[in-house]
Amino acid sequence: MTILDVEFVNGFIRMCNDGWLQGWHERNGGNLSYRLKPEEVENVKSFFHEPGEWKAIGTSVPALSGEYFMVTGSGKYFRNVILDPEDTTCIIELDEQGENYRILWGLRNGGRPTSELPSHLMNHEVKKLASNDTHRVIYHAHTTNVIALTFVLPLQDEVFTRELWEMATECPVVFPSGVGVVGWMVPGGRDIAVATSDLMKKYDVAIWAHHGMFVSGENFDLTFGLMHTVEKSAEILVKTLSMSPNKLQTITPQNFRDLAKDFNVTLPERFLYEKGE
Ligand code: 13P
Ligand code: ZN
Repeated sequence: MTILDVEFVNGFIRMCNDGWLQGWHERNGGNLSYRLKPEEVENVKSFFHEPGEWKAIGTSVPALSGEYFMVTGSGKYFRNVILDPEDTTCIIELDEQGENYRILWGLRNGGRPTSELPSHLMNHEVKKLASNDTHRVIYHAHTTNVIALTFVLPLQDEVFTRELWEMATECPVVFPSGVGVVGWMVPGGRDIAVATSDLMKKYDVAIWAHHGMFVSGENFDLTFGLMHTVEKSAEILVKTLSMSPNKLQTITPQNFRDLAKDFNVTLPERFLYEKGE
């Protein structure tokens, strides 16, 4: 048995490859992190090497102190993860303050975890608390159609949520709390991490204007499925807008209310505004 036989490691690698196959990970674009369960830490402990040096995360995540994460490496290509996971990914441990990390496995040819580690960990912290410890996956991808929309739609949560919901009947069921939008910011630092994790208090999806998307979920299937659903909806919207700036018909606010009742979801009224169309 090797570490690659462990279920979460396998799921992590498969998700990286699925994202690559979707075309969301040009070059080193995108990153993925997974918060290990205590029993999973026990399962992989025997594969850990001597711990590396403690290094600063660049932000503080006290609610994650002592937790373990599997994370993609900075500058690593998603298309290579399936070929050499030990070169392209790593498992890290956080210290008791939630301010430093050290590498316990992976990145065997050197390197560091993703430059978006502050965003990943601040999102994990918010989601761990908000989801009663159930959310474990944070995923960042350079989703083509969502990025395209950030050039033509107002960068408002209400507009993006409503337009994406209208493009596919299942959307409000898959992301009933909506999507948040962050205006353009320098990636890789604490500021964008704070802005994103603030949105994650309300949403499972945060769009970075002219850059990509962050999503959060309980497991690999749900999190990949969420990214896929939002991006597919964005693709339909791009196609629709390309054919005509006006829709001839669409899903109406009352249709959404009827759907919410039958599918047992709560859709905030602030997304069901009258457009005056
Ligand atoms: P990393 O290679 O450091 O993960 O960065 C890729 C990326 O998408 C930055 O936003
Ligand atoms: Zn990115």
